Amino acid sequence: MPKNSPNPLMLATWSFSTRGCNLAWPNLSSGGGALDAVCAVAREAESDPEVDSVGFGGLPDVIGRISLDACVMMSPERCGSVCAVTRHLHVADLARLVMERTSHVMLVGEGADSFADALGMPQMELLSADARQAWERWRSGATTTRQTDQGVDSGKIFSQSSSAPSPIGEKHIPHDTIGVLAIDTHGVMAGACSTSGMPFKLAGRVGDSPIPGHGIYVDPEGGGAVATGMGEFVMGVSGSFLAVECMRRGSTPLEAVQEVLQRIERRHKPLAHQQVGIIALATDGKWSAGALCPGFAVTIADESGIRCVAPEFVLRQES
Ligand code: GLY
Repeated sequence: MPKNSPNPLMLATWSFSTRGCNLAWPNLSSGGGALDAVCAVAREAESDPEVDSVGFGGLPDVIGRISLDACVMMSPERCGSVCAVTRHLHVADLARLVMERTSHVMLVGEGADSFADALGMPQMELLSADARQAWERWRSGATTTRQTDQGVDSGKIFSQSSSAPSPIGEKHIPHDTIGVLAIDTHGVMAGACSTSGMPFKLAGRVGDSPIPGHGIYVDPEGGGAVATGMGEFVMGVSGSFLAVECMRRGSTPLEAVQEVLQRIERRHKPLAHQQVGIIALATDGKWSAGALCPGFAVTIADESGIRCVAPEFVLRQES
């Protein structure tokens, strides 16, 4: 490892990232690349039918059609993104291919799917039977969740992979993006995020996740950040860019996440149940995580092991 490089580590949103971190950590800790690690963690969540906010198993839009968004980023000059992918599962990998094989940053909709076809990525049906049933229940009014035409989230907590109560009080929210940041043994940082977006969203809605600076930002001069939760709030303050820019100007990761969440609170005035979580990783390996309200959780993988913890900062302790 070069002198002064931080030890490798991985930081990811939500406990459902733990399985991917377990898979990716051995390679990262023994010299593998940060970009390979974050894509591996995203792939695992994308394949997990129990995660209803990412990949296969994700909840569809208002017309019952699932679409996926993702982004990978290593620096302002190196990022790739896809939005509204409807036929291909591994959208973080697809975003990486946009970054590596094209001179563009973002491909959208049919163009993104066609690009995946041209590269030989397998097509698949992304809507799981459970997600279809959830949509049918929602459409018939049998669930209390109401994703209205205005994109208002009523705050119903969807069931998730673990039915057991979480020891750290995690409560999944309806659009809980997987976001991953990693530093490898060479001191290189990479980030990835992947989501099916807001459940029962208007057809065509895209949130913060695939947009560099909003749902994710990585700059070797400042660090990395990834957001999860209500994308419209994050987009309004360029949340991930703001966090990284704060660190670039000398803030600690904790101060950076506090700035983002306080700005969201001040400008958007979120309702009590509306959640945003954000993780921030400085170039020296220091990190923090915060959320608007209780229920967010972070998975950390480092030389001390892989574990899931509550965020360091919660803006409103009572939700
Ligand atoms: N944060 C993911 C979304 O709002 O789409």
